[in-house]
Amino acid sequence: MVSMIAKAMVNNKMFMKYIALIICLLMDINAHAAEMPAIAKDHCGGCHAVEKTLYAPSLKAIAMKYRGDADAANKLTEIINRGGTSGWNSGMRMPPRGLNANDKEIKAMVEFIIELSTEDSGTK
Ligand code: HEC
Repeated sequence: MVSMIAKAMVNNKMFMKYIALIICLLMDINAHAAEMPAIAKDHCGGCHAVEKTLYAPSLKAIAMKYRGDADAANKLTEIINRGGTSGWNSGMRMPPRGLNANDKEIKAMVEFIIELSTEDSGTK
């Protein structure tokens, strides 16, 4: 009888471990989903973060501005190439192409921002 209870407890512990592991995995997946594309980090990451406002608006905030805009990809590509201001009143101008991003890196960022805009209700 005692051994049965002990066994049940061990199994329960294993079960809890699995649950903890699954939760960790899910959190990890979420964290990665919001990672800026690595190839663009050097060109954009100094001023923009995904969730937080640094010198520049967060990518999430930008994503929410373009949420549901069918022409978002074109508009974002144009603004990133052009730089300057775009109504955020940050007191700063964005350099054209950020810090020398090439077309491929800009495309990756545009896709990332659009993906963020479809992710959730935009409470962040
Ligand atoms: C030197 C800092 C800096 C770098 C590097 C930089 N940005 Fe910006 N970015 C800004 C600032 C500042 C603003 C907001 C300007 C304003 O006040 O309107 C901005 C605004 C934007 C916007 C807003 C567009 C809109 O319509 O609202 C986008 C998109 C953007 N940046 C994308 C990028 C991408 C992609 C990169 C990398 C290729 C990048 N930025 C690199 C400073 C930077």
